[in-house]
Order: sequence, then C-alpha cells, then structure tokens
Amino acid sequence: MKREKQRVDNKELEKQLGIINELKECLQGKDLHYYIETFGCQMNEKDSEKLAGVLKKIGYTETQNIKQADFILYNTCCIRENAERKIYGRVGNLRRLKEKKPDLIVAVCGCMMQQEHVLERLRGKYRKEVDIIFGTYNIYKLAELIRTRMEVGHQIIDIWKEHKEIVEDLPSERKYKYKAAVNIMYGCNNFCTYCIVPYVRGRERSRESESIIKEIKNLVADGVKEIMLLGQNVNSYGKGLEDGITFAKLLREINEIEGLELIRYMTSHPKDFNDELIYAIRDCDKVCNYVHLPIQAGSNKVLSAMNRKYTKEQYLSLAEKIKREIKDVSITTDIIVGFPGETDEDFEDTLDVVRKVRYDGAFTFIYSKRTGTKAASMEGQVSEEKVTERFNKLLEETEKIQEEDNAKRKDMVYKVLVENISKNDERLLTGRTEQNILVHFEGDASLIGELVEVKIVETKRNYLVGEFKRRIKLWSQRKL
Ligand code: SAH
Ligand code: SF4
Ligand code: F3S
Repeated sequence: MKREKQRVDNKELEKQLGIINELKECLQGKDLHYYIETFGCQMNEKDSEKLAGVLKKIGYTETQNIKQADFILYNTCCIRENAERKIYGRVGNLRRLKEKKPDLIVAVCGCMMQQEHVLERLRGKYRKEVDIIFGTYNIYKLAELIRTRMEVGHQIIDIWKEHKEIVEDLPSERKYKYKAAVNIMYGCNNFCTYCIVPYVRGRERSRESESIIKEIKNLVADGVKEIMLLGQNVNSYGKGLEDGITFAKLLREINEIEGLELIRYMTSHPKDFNDELIYAIRDCDKVCNYVHLPIQAGSNKVLSAMNRKYTKEQYLSLAEKIKREIKDVSITTDIIVGFPGETDEDFEDTLDVVRKVRYDGAFTFIYSKRTGTKAASMEGQVSEEKVTERFNKLLEETEKIQEEDNAKRKDMVYKVLVENISKNDERLLTGRTEQNILVHFEGDASLIGELVEVKIVETKRNYLVGEFKRRIKLWSQRKL
C-alpha cells in the first residue's frame, strides 16, 4: 500500500490567519467564551488544542461552564458505540440553551463525523442544535467555517472523504505548561478488522522529521520538558518519506534536543516493533522505559481474524526481548473481549498472555460492532452474558497482577516530572515515573515543572505514594 507523504500548504495557512484576524476585528469587545469537550484518544486531545488555539486567537476565552459559552465544540470519537451515544446525549441536551441564547454556535467535529449515518442524523434530528459540522481532515479551517456560519445563518457541513493538505503552524493552545503532544504521523493503514480508525482518519501520512524537530525545539524553548509523539502506529513512521528515516532514527534525533528531558510515544504496533526500535529505546536516555504494546487477543485464531499480523508466540517473545533489553521497563496493553467467534478456549489464551507478560496496566474493552468494518459482518457474535463473564475475569486478573507488581516498587527511588497539585488533596503533588506510573507525594507547589527524585513509601494498584528526596537537574542523570 502506498504511503503518502504529507503536503504542507502555506497559502492555506495565510488564508486562515487572514480570516482569524477578520473575525477578531468583527467580534472585538464582545467578551465571548468557548467550551470544548473532547472524547477519544490523544489525537483528538491534540486536535482540540489546535482548535482552541484558533478560537483564542479570534478572541474567545475558555470557560468550563457550558452555560456561559458562546461557542460550544464537541470533538467526537467513534471507536466504540458508547462514545457515539454520549455525543447524541450531549447535543440533545443543548436544545434549551440554544433557545435561550440564539447567538450560541454549536460545532461538532472529529472521527464520528466521518461516517455517513452520523451526518444523516445530525442533518435531520439535530438540525436546530448543531450549527457547524466538520471532520478530521479539515480542522485547520475552523475560522473559515465560523465565518461561513455567521454569513449563512443555518447549519453548515464540511466533511472531506480524504485528506488533501496539512496546514502546519496554526496557533495551538497547550493544555499543560511542561508537557506537550506532537503529531508525527496521521492515519492508519492496518485495517484491524474491528477498528473504525482507518476509515475515519484515512491513510498513513508521516510528517517530515525537520518539521517535527523544529516544533519540539520551539516547545522546549517555551518551557516544555516532556513530549509525547503521537501516531496510531508510530513504528510505521517514515515509510513513504524519501530520506530513509525510521521511528527509531527519529527517536535518536529527538533525544539530542537540548533542554528536552523526556520522550514518550503512542502507540506502537507489535507487528513492526523491530530490534532497531528496541535498541533506540534502550540507548536514548530521554526515551522513557515504557512500552504500550496492544495485544488485543491471545488466541492465534482470533488474532488472525482481527488481521493483527502477529501470533501469540511472536508477541510473547517480543515482550520478553523488550524486558530483557530495556532496564526496568513497564509494558501496558489493550485487550478486546468478545470478538466474533471468540470461544472460552480462545479467551484462555488471552489470560495466558496476561499471566506471562504481567502487564503494568491493561486497557480492557468489550468488542463493539462498528458499521463498515470487516468484523461487523462476521459470524459468531458472542452473547452479552459470556462477554461480561470474560470481561470481569480479565479485569480481576489484570488488576491482581498490577497490584502485586506495584507492591514490589516499595522503597524504590524514581525520577518524576512534577505535573500538578493533586486533585483530591492539595498538600500532595503528582507526577509520573518513567514507567508512566502515577506518584503522589507531599511537596511544595514550586516543584511543579521540576524533575525530582521520589522514594516510594506506599503502593496501590493504580498509583504510588512517595516521599520527596531531592531536585535533579537533568533527567539524563540516570544513576540513582
Ligand atoms: N492504534 C492503536 C489503537 C487505537 S484504538 C493500536 O493499534 O494499538 C485504542 C484501542 O481501542 C485499541 O487498541 C482496541 O483495543 C480498542 N478498540 C478499537 N476498536 C474497537 C472496537 N470495535 N471494540 C472494542 N474495542 C476497540
Ligand atoms: Fe485501529 Fe489497528 Fe489502526 Fe490501531 S492499528 S488504529 S487498532 S486499525
Ligand atoms: Fe476515537 Fe478517533 Fe481516537 S475514533 S480513539 S478519537 S482516532
């Protein structure tokens, strides 16, 4: 399959910046607020930061109070059915608010909008509630869409069936001061048979490494210490680019950026997790010793029906190699229960993998049928009762292992980038270890954004409680 290189369109950037200024002048002095709710994965979170950046530039201020908002945006996800159901609920609830505030603009965008049956419903039943509908390929056009909506005065829909060009360098509103996400590629070519993503996010496109490096350097100059590289399948990064760059090489280049302390990435597919990548993670001091390695299912029959392109045995030996090569690595995973045709025996294979790998965290999902995917028409849908039984069993097993393994972390000393004051107790600070485990510890708010050493004094299943030891200057001072 051909992988497309991204085309950057600077003319389009100028055009959008022009419209942003136009709107800014026109809305001046109006004290307008925006409210954004984001569903789904980090790609959507990142897109929402870009959308918020445009709204802010136009002159809107963020509000957490939906009733105060003059512009409401839902950035949607359709990975499972319940994500979609939530959106219809949210939009339906806006009826009253719309009646009270005739100038309120409601926009919906994101993955869900790339499906015809969703558009039909929003065009029909929700015609009055929703003003602007756009998809995943044209988020940079937000300002233009707002202007058009103001001109025409009725619902507007702008959905592209494929990506055309990508516009870089539009304003973006970062949620965190010290950490940021950076897209390295868009789309997915894998077509796992249960998954809607390739249909709503299009084919794989890698960004030029120079643009990525430039963006990260700018972020670092602005105070960012940790970056998360985003892609549905980061190990395919670079395919289609001319310079022979790979994800492993990209990691090595980013590792050299001065002032940057931590590098994370999301998500890696087991099928092309090669030695080059393992060694890059092992060798690069800033790249976290943390690998998210979705298994999805343990049985070879199910894996093949899912089109995952690896076997249970290959996966197990990969996990083993990762553990052997990368010191104190943590491995997390995604698992689907109840894929069509899954038998009790198949499910036992999943449990077997869970027991062998001993994940530091597992995101477990009940299979959700997605219209348009291959699996939607497969025979052997599993009964709800069976699925619930398996799901509970899986959860019990993964939680037990996580708790046991976390208990082994007592008295260990970890490096942590302090992120925030704890939501539940303001005497506590929170941060994450390199292994992506949440740590709470008592400390002064002046430590936020700093790298510190923390000694673990108590362990829970989902987090650790620590004791502040000292500040450290550089993450790369690894020896503890
Ligand atoms: N690109 C990532 C996954 C993105 S979606 C990867 O391949 O690892 C995140 C997770 O949602 C998937 O790993 C899968 O476990 C789950 N998922 C995707 N489609 C699903 C469906 N139809 N039903 C249930 N879970 C699903
Ligand atoms: Fe979906 Fe598979 Fe692509 Fe992940 S790799 S986004 S699960 S199709
Ligand atoms: Fe959802 Fe789209 Fe992400 S479907 S999981 S928001 S790529």
